[in-house]
Amino acid sequence: MNSAETPPKPEPALVREKAHDNPPATPGCLLPEPLQAAGIVIFGASGDLAWRKLVPALFNLYDSGHLPDQFFILGVSRTNWDDREFRGQMQDAVTRHCDTQSGKCSDFLSHLYYHRLEYDQPEDYKALATLLKHLGQKTGAKDNLLFNLALPPSLPPVVSRKLAQAGLSQPGPNHQGWIRVVVEKPFGHDLESSRYLNQTMAQAFSEDQIFRVDHYLAKETVQNIIMFRFANAIFEPIWNRNFVDKVVIIASEKLGVGHRAGYYEGTGVLRDMFQNHMLQLLSLTAMEPPSMWAADRVRDEKTKVFRSLRPFTSQAVDQHLLLGQYGAGKEIKGYRQESGVAQTSLTPTFAMLKVYVDNWRWQGVPFYLVSGKRMAQKVTRMVIFFRQVPHSMFRQVLGQDITQNRLFLNIHPEEAISLSFQTKGPGPVLCLRTVRMVFDYAVDPSGLSLGAYEKALLDCMQGEQMLFWRQDGVELCWSFLEPVLNRCESCGDRASRLHTYTPGSWGPEEVKTILPDWPEPAL
Ligand code: BG6
Repeated sequence: MNSAETPPKPEPALVREKAHDNPPATPGCLLPEPLQAAGIVIFGASGDLAWRKLVPALFNLYDSGHLPDQFFILGVSRTNWDDREFRGQMQDAVTRHCDTQSGKCSDFLSHLYYHRLEYDQPEDYKALATLLKHLGQKTGAKDNLLFNLALPPSLPPVVSRKLAQAGLSQPGPNHQGWIRVVVEKPFGHDLESSRYLNQTMAQAFSEDQIFRVDHYLAKETVQNIIMFRFANAIFEPIWNRNFVDKVVIIASEKLGVGHRAGYYEGTGVLRDMFQNHMLQLLSLTAMEPPSMWAADRVRDEKTKVFRSLRPFTSQAVDQHLLLGQYGAGKEIKGYRQESGVAQTSLTPTFAMLKVYVDNWRWQGVPFYLVSGKRMAQKVTRMVIFFRQVPHSMFRQVLGQDITQNRLFLNIHPEEAISLSFQTKGPGPVLCLRTVRMVFDYAVDPSGLSLGAYEKALLDCMQGEQMLFWRQDGVELCWSFLEPVLNRCESCGDRASRLHTYTPGSWGPEEVKTILPDWPEPAL
């Protein structure tokens, strides 16, 4: 499909089609066999993540027939609820996703249970072990257990240790099933704390039991990057420094920090988005072809990219990093006015980072990573800018520059791949116009597309680790970012390096010192 290039479409809300509204799925894309019976234990069940993401995702899996027939979901947290109160709370979370007339909501809710627990109290874990045994027998979920740690970063080490002490971290004579644990980003606050987190978890669980979630990896369009690159013969020959001029990876958001200020103040955009999502998107764009579709083959190739990132010197940080913080706008609070944020806060809510991958394929090609809150649009995409034509035969008529070919791998709000190229503009006078050839997932969804959390949970239940971080990658990314974090958190001129930007803009004006034509060609 060709269409003259038009300004970006207004942002449609990305509402995942309910599974039953989708056309029949392509048989080859479906699970070959039903999942094994299992109990899913959500630590932090009274928190935002459980309510907003995990329980609705579990409902969607249930609704689309992906959960096993025998399962239970046990919410665990400090809040003083019983089963009935927990179900009441979660009812609100799932009714947004279900047809209340169909009875599916109430069927699903009847699989939910609750256990109150102090995270550091061994006695509470003993009671938990007894309850899990009982629920396994009562529901037929047996001994298969998925512990989902939807907890603030300080708690996974505590909970892992206590689960191990209660005999709940490894299968044993009295426990025949599998046990897996899901941990959410951020994986630590820096290299040292990520190592500590890993060491404590490794004392309780083996690496193949640990699932480090980065929900970006489970997005359909992100998974597709590997298929696009390696299931087609035509792109790989031009996917290198000979043809690629630069790569821009954007994850901009319209919303501010909202009620997450407490978390965000100590995190900032570099830890919240770069240490994980942005570097994963970079690795998918830059990696070499794995020899086989297997979790560790794919993760090995990503790890090689992390290892090839050019280390930052303090001079390079100054030249290649731009930080911003959103100011106040018309009826919009500035970051420092958000509740829970210090009035003098120097936490960045925007960053542009220019990085290089020092290997044969990418030598000299800059990768620009850009992410921020309260920006003009919510856009997640990777843009590959190809080199200019080597010589323009139209230069006397049209001037020297011809717009570069660009390949857009769009993740949000469009879920589409498009290639921009030049064609003749219709008419009697010579002119060129940029057009786009588009593949849009929404046009022909001939499969059952799962949301990111649905896919991540499904993979955990199947023991498939392809879409999860491995610890070596986590540590390499922290090591790469540490000089950047140190430079921007401990330098005396920290305040003057943080540029205020207007909410609803594309970030601070100063960003043009790093990428002069930002943002237009990437939109
Ligand atoms: C999370 C970050 O990991 O990703 C949030 O903690 C951010 O700050 C979110 O808003 C963005 O995710 P998505 O899927 O909406 O792009």
